[in-house]
Amino acid sequence: KTLKIAVVPGDGIGVEVTPFGVQCLQAIGEIYNIPLQFEEFDFASVPYYKKHGDMLPKDWKTTLSQFDAIYFGAVGMPDEVPDEVTLWGSLLKFRREFDQYVNLRPCRLIKGVKSPLADRKPGDIDFWIVRENTEGEYSSIGGKIFEGTDREIVMQETVMTRFGVDRILKYAFDLAQSRPRKRLTSATKSNGISTTMPWWDARVREMAKNYPDINVDKYHIDILTAHFVQKPDIFDVVVGSNLFGDILSDLGPACTGTIGIAPSANINPEGKFPSLFEPVHGSAPDIAGKGVANPVGMIWAGQMLLQHFGHTEAAEALLRAIENVLGRSQPDVLTADMGGKGSTQSLGEAIINEVKSF
Ligand code: NAI
Ligand code: MG
Repeated sequence: KTLKIAVVPGDGIGVEVTPFGVQCLQAIGEIYNIPLQFEEFDFASVPYYKKHGDMLPKDWKTTLSQFDAIYFGAVGMPDEVPDEVTLWGSLLKFRREFDQYVNLRPCRLIKGVKSPLADRKPGDIDFWIVRENTEGEYSSIGGKIFEGTDREIVMQETVMTRFGVDRILKYAFDLAQSRPRKRLTSATKSNGISTTMPWWDARVREMAKNYPDINVDKYHIDILTAHFVQKPDIFDVVVGSNLFGDILSDLGPACTGTIGIAPSANINPEGKFPSLFEPVHGSAPDIAGKGVANPVGMIWAGQMLLQHFGHTEAAEALLRAIENVLGRSQPDVLTADMGGKGSTQSLGEAIINEVKSF
């Protein structure tokens, strides 16, 4: 079956890194005989907004629903249009309306990448962070009273549903099941948050009954962040609520490298709606237009796309290509954020050529 991919480059360096991601996918698709079909869209960008007064066309949901995946660059030009308009008007709509309830990020130490944990060897750190992406602490239930007075009260409720929590836990347990170490760590805070978090822990225990071969543990979020830095090699799959997952999913990749290489997937596992694959970084207006952005985050996001659709062999090859090229540490090839003096093009093409050499 042909995989239909909507390509949405967006703004700034999103536009610069996207072509290299697409070219890598095309090369891999040819080698591994995966039929891929790409269609590019100019919406979800500041130029589109300036022309049409909106970030998206009226029928965007129908248009994008026809695709299996959205391959997204980055959006936002805060000096021209406020981020609330650009991000809430596009990316956040995709995540919500397409019920992309899993946010998935790899945390992997790669040879050649400068990392604060460089005393560890590549291979020592290799785990996944699974974040609940639709409910929890980020609810719209709450409000303010006596605003502006010295009796001011503000409240925002955490909302967890059995449906919402069980589906993210199931995804995380299934992922742990697919991995050799079969280990799942849950982020909690049941010693301080006395209703939702003990309940979250109970849902984890309940779900664990279906997965007798998985080694389950839990840590309070405070000590868990310390372990991410001090002993990241103990983790395999880490699952957290929306807020805890948000924090961990920035901390984890930060521990193992530069923001320029980190990918992320927003997944609707049932495939009822398209899933979205993107680099973690934004549009980087400070370096946009110079051709020096690191394309690895975008390319790695394409790798996650292949993996998500079950093209494991192709996905492994693409990850190996990224690792080989970064591992050679050639200054002429690497971009400045990795200590090199190369360009988006030199690094992008090196990975494409590496893929073709397999
Ligand atoms: P940013 O990620 O765009 O940039 C942060 C810093 O990292 C900058 O110094 C930038 O030059 C550097 N950087 C980022 N990606 C890089 C790459 N591939 N290669 C080399 N260096 C890289 O975050 P910032 O500056 O906070 O946001 C800029 C705009 O992007 C804002 O409008 C923001 O809202 C938006 N944004 C969009 C996201 C998305 O589309 N998913 C995610 C994060 C931010
Ligand atoms: Mg975040």
